[in-house]
Amino acid sequence: MRTQVGIVGAGPAGLMLSHLLHLSGIESIIVEERSRAYCESRVRAGLIEQWARDLILKVGLGERLQREGLLHHGIKLNFGTGLHPIDFTKLVGRAVTIYGQQELVKDMIAQRLADGGRILFEAEQASVHDLDGERPKIRFRHQEQSDEIDCDFIGGCDGFHGICRPSIPDGVLTIYEREYPFAWAGILAESPSPDEELIYCSQERGFALFSMRSPTVGRFYVQCGRDDKEEDWPDERIWEELQARLAGVRPLVQGKVLQKLVAPLRSFAVEPMQFGRLFLAGDSAHIVPPTGAKGMNLAMADVLVLSRAIAEFYKTRRSEQLVTYSQTCLRRMWKAQRFSWWMTQMLHRFPDESAFDRKRREAELDYVTSSQAASMTLAENYTGLPMDI
Ligand code: DHB
Repeated sequence: MRTQVGIVGAGPAGLMLSHLLHLSGIESIIVEERSRAYCESRVRAGLIEQWARDLILKVGLGERLQREGLLHHGIKLNFGTGLHPIDFTKLVGRAVTIYGQQELVKDMIAQRLADGGRILFEAEQASVHDLDGERPKIRFRHQEQSDEIDCDFIGGCDGFHGICRPSIPDGVLTIYEREYPFAWAGILAESPSPDEELIYCSQERGFALFSMRSPTVGRFYVQCGRDDKEEDWPDERIWEELQARLAGVRPLVQGKVLQKLVAPLRSFAVEPMQFGRLFLAGDSAHIVPPTGAKGMNLAMADVLVLSRAIAEFYKTRRSEQLVTYSQTCLRRMWKAQRFSWWMTQMLHRFPDESAFDRKRREAELDYVTSSQAASMTLAENYTGLPMDI
């Protein structure tokens, strides 16, 4: 097989990259290890920054998002004396949209297929080759046969555990990493969210987050031990902790638990995000802790930059934007890393927290909700730093 851009991974990054390239008249093939059903049901954070929503609508992928996405003009922080609202629209004139990541994935898969795009699901044993030459290749097994795609470029959109990043020779990448001494236990439940806005709780017993997927389905998380397993968090225990960390500011209605996960928190990044003609985008290049839900938004920003750089190459045979791809993305990425780390450290209880750090964190929460300058900083970052779409 032959294509212009071979893409590994049919998550938000790979699908959006393929769609954006298509709009510029550039052909791509996506190779995905999992089944279509798996990709379409993988539950992840569902928060879309203002510019990303605008992009999704602009490129014709937002019909259902516009109908079903929930627009949020602010969040509430719950600590100490109770609920403290932060009004994004008043502070920075922007909002965020809640729309499950897998819903966006469904919309993008449907659109790619309707446009004649090729997505090879259940492609096994994928590997990438000749990355520093002019004809990189993706090899894999599909429908019990060995296959190869000959490309001009490869988009490494295969996530943190994917094969693309580890295919880059040793010594090329610098790794930056931080682990946190806790994880999140999360549920999706037939339980309305206790408030119309998202509530981030920072309480004696730790962090909790109340988000939603629809007026009747809630998405809730509690801070738990770093090595906890799903078995450690039976439904009753999650409900009890959620209730406790809501600290009485709203009643919580318990409903059927539809899905559960325990996920560790990690900050991770590699530099550069490129080797030869392999370009990493999204989680394959960087992971942020989930507080603030920047992951998918960063993936969208990466592939927007990459699609433009590739389009420039085919149009003019110039590679300036490809050369600066990594640098352009990393500048934005590090600011999102900083923000995600900052939200995480401010809202969680660290098991070994000193009395000084405890006081410092309480002061930070007080400052961020009582100073217009500080609230504005949170609002600006949360709703997404400016991006030229
Ligand atoms: C969601 C997840 C987050 O980590 C967050 O900060 C906000 C919302 C969510 O899944 O809805």
